[in-house]
Amino acid sequence: MTREDRVEKQAEKQSCSRRDFLKFSAKASVGVALGGMVLSGCAGVPMTQPNMLFRDKPLGRKVRVGFVGIGSQGSGHVRNLSKITDAEVVAVCDIRESQTKWAQDKLVAAGRPKPTAYTKGDYDFLRMCETEDLDLVYTATPWRWHVPICVAAMKSGKHAATEVPAAPYLEDCWKLVETAEKYQKHCMMMENACYDRMELMIWNMVRQGLFGELLHAECGYLHDLRGHKLGEKVYQGMWRVYHSIKRNADLYPTHGLGPVAQWMDINRGNQFDHLVSMSCNARGLPLYAEKKYGPESKWTKAKYKLGDVVNTLIRTKNGQTILITHDTNLPRPYSRKIFLQGTKGLVRKYPEEKIHIEGISEGHGWEEAKDYYEKYDHPLWKAMQEKSKGAGHGGLDFIEDYRLVECIKEGKPTDMNVYDAAAWSAVTAISEKSIAKKSSSVDFPDFTRGKWKTTPRMEIMGV
Ligand SMILES: NC(=O)c1ccc[n+]([C@@H]2O[C@H](COP(=O)([O-])OP(=O)(O)OC[C@H]3O[C@@H](n4cnc5c(N)ncnc54)[C@H](O)[C@@H]3O)[C@@H](O)[C@H]2O)c1
Repeated sequence: MTREDRVEKQAEKQSCSRRDFLKFSAKASVGVALGGMVLSGCAGVPMTQPNMLFRDKPLGRKVRVGFVGIGSQGSGHVRNLSKITDAEVVAVCDIRESQTKWAQDKLVAAGRPKPTAYTKGDYDFLRMCETEDLDLVYTATPWRWHVPICVAAMKSGKHAATEVPAAPYLEDCWKLVETAEKYQKHCMMMENACYDRMELMIWNMVRQGLFGELLHAECGYLHDLRGHKLGEKVYQGMWRVYHSIKRNADLYPTHGLGPVAQWMDINRGNQFDHLVSMSCNARGLPLYAEKKYGPESKWTKAKYKLGDVVNTLIRTKNGQTILITHDTNLPRPYSRKIFLQGTKGLVRKYPEEKIHIEGISEGHGWEEAKDYYEKYDHPLWKAMQEKSKGAGHGGLDFIEDYRLVECIKEGKPTDMNVYDAAAWSAVTAISEKSIAKKSSSVDFPDFTRGKWKTTPRMEIMGV
């Protein structure tokens, strides 16, 4: 058994076990049919009433943060937090001491107090949660750790924030929801793509009715990750490639889907209803491995379950369709697709930003979407564009960190709540089920248990 397998087994123990989950599901009285199964909650976590717009008292002081997982993405967040006046990183945790030391040095160099380091193995985040007086635990660890860390945080009275995707399995999505409800804590999935200029502008235009009634969207994660997945040492322990070996699913749905879900008011008057998913052969990773490491390499001989292109089609309760593409094993330019069509117009982001609005655009042609920025830029983008310059992913990561800290400090609902984290992340597990059943239609569970019908639209956020 490799270290990766051992770690995965341990992490699974921490989250809902599949067996307990099925036992509980069979007994549960409230449920949603999913391919013959009933999905309604995790064993041992009592179901409570959701509170979609959960508010807290303003803190009246800086937000005390414990950060777990300071790798390539986590280090960017720590850097951002060092620049956000209302945040104070009190503790840092990583299985690699070099990473906590880096974070301590970075924070001290920024004139901040030196945070306490937690480096005693995979579960030292538990000790951090138990020991430290924190408002927020923020994690950028490999996917399998997101749920155990968020749950430990909320159980010990802290809000939780996690990198994407929040949870790799359905039972883990439920576990996040039920723990957040039980302990009345925020659990925000940090989907930075929701803060990109174009996505924010489209949202602003949707609200102003420029596209009319929304009917269809296309989005996804189309990123040549062969060098990352098989580049040795890019990811700590090569964790990412193991998911491509073990699962045939849309492994990373939220970068494209998050903004679309916001435009379509998912969990606030609308919901994902069902999906079908289909994947093609898996060729890209073994071919790449053979070129890089030779025919005898374990990476060349490995059996990869993940089809190179996975397409998933969702239908929402309000009758829209969303096509999501996951394409990370082949040579290609980067794209999240980002396409939206309504009764009055359409817009797309990749490969070039183009728009057509009936009554504004001439004839049947495209216009340059950048010409709309001045008039329709989102107020959050306008307020943050200077401050966020130079931060990760073109500044988005700074905006999301800033918003997280601001919401926690002010006791406001976070821009994305635990139901969003669950519904957007659930696409991985549900697409996996659909693919395994020859692309059968599979229903989404209702993580809100009916509250989506009465929850108001999200306000357009400002600063
Ligand atoms: N939003 C984005 O644009 C974006 C970009 C890259 C990565 N990510 C996400 O960020 C997360 C991390 O990805 P990455 O690329 O930084 O990976 P990485 O391998 O570079 O970093 C992971 C870090 O977590 C640490 N770690 C592993 N297990 C741990 C544990 N049990 N306790 C404490 N620390 C632990 C590792 O030592 C490492 O420093 C993933 O969820 C990924 O999907 C998001």
